[in-house]
Amino acid sequence: MKLTEKEQALLDGKHGLGLKKAMEILMALGRIYGAKEMVPVTSAQIAGVSYKNIGDPGLEFLTDWASQDARVHIPAFMNPAGIDRQIWRQLGFPEAFALKQIEIIEVLKRMGVRATLTCTPYHIGIVPQKGEHIAWSESSAVSYANSVLGARTNREGGPSALAAAFCGRTPRFGLHLHENRLATHRVLVNCKLESSADFGLLGYLIGKQVGSGIPFFQGIELPTNETERTTCLKSLGAAMAASGAVALYHVENFTPEAGVYGERIVKQNAGSIEITSMDEARTVLNHEGNQIDLVTLGCPHASLEELKEIARIIGNQQLKKPLWIASSAIVREDARANGILEIIEKAGGKVLADTCMVVAPLEEMGIKSIVTNSAKAATYLPSHQGAIVHFGTTEQCIHAAINGRF
Ligand code: F3S
Repeated sequence: MKLTEKEQALLDGKHGLGLKKAMEILMALGRIYGAKEMVPVTSAQIAGVSYKNIGDPGLEFLTDWASQDARVHIPAFMNPAGIDRQIWRQLGFPEAFALKQIEIIEVLKRMGVRATLTCTPYHIGIVPQKGEHIAWSESSAVSYANSVLGARTNREGGPSALAAAFCGRTPRFGLHLHENRLATHRVLVNCKLESSADFGLLGYLIGKQVGSGIPFFQGIELPTNETERTTCLKSLGAAMAASGAVALYHVENFTPEAGVYGERIVKQNAGSIEITSMDEARTVLNHEGNQIDLVTLGCPHASLEELKEIARIIGNQQLKKPLWIASSAIVREDARANGILEIIEKAGGKVLADTCMVVAPLEEMGIKSIVTNSAKAATYLPSHQGAIVHFGTTEQCIHAAINGRF
């Protein structure tokens, strides 16, 4: 790989052992994927924060790296952790788990990573521009940044995103290259998508079929309201990244690169995938049984507008079952300032910051049966948490919490 003087100096250890190790990780990745050079990146989003996912070996790895004076050189942000730092005791999170989790967050903070602890950084003002190279790692955030914003990132692992944050660069391969952003599959959607849950179901179906391909969607009617559109597109991308490994998609006449990278596949006149109903996906993601331990929304993390809509649906009703809505601490504070949090809490619901249903230790907390509006969560929860899942729209989920049955 061709390195600049600065990159060679990093690799030679002239900027310390921590950065040398980071550069070695980036070099190894670049060699595996045939990169010819590095590309400067403007931000890094670091996954692999939850103690549930990385355990003691992960904590030791991070602590070692921090002791080698590794510090970030570009803005870097954490993905969700396994606890809500403010209310974990109140929610009954296990203390031993919480203490380990706090240690991980503190080590990352020492290295300069901001404890945003969210998978939707674009809801808290971190919005990369079209064409900007970044190193993000949470799959739904990667999908949103590439597809909806037109930024350029591969799906980084936790260590490679950290290495990019330390060195300010990443190997130029994969989705950093123009030729790898071309659509690989044409998808004709011949049915109406009524809700963000339907967009999640579509994502579930397409992720299964295209794997790590790049779908070009035609026929999707997006909501005219910008907030609803954002919610639908993030559900679509999150689900495709969960059932497959889609890191980029194009929507005809909407996403910023659809014209350049999508329409070629139409001209090729190749076969297309046709979707006429969401019924199959709905059946697969819904399990038998009536028990509800928890109703959970906010995967990916909810925006302020989604919280407003949830509060509107709840109104002044009381919940019979626990309702947790995952979001970021910044959005929760905005919801508090707007009186939205009060409505949700008065009904008996909770807005959780810093964490989510997939990376929190729900199994350890005895939560087995979960209702959700997220196709991504419905895909992961049975395997990650051993949970029985019921999938529905936001309204159906909230009504399940109010009525105590789905
Ligand atoms: Fe985000 Fe957790 Fe879902 S990280 S996308 S809320 S699984």
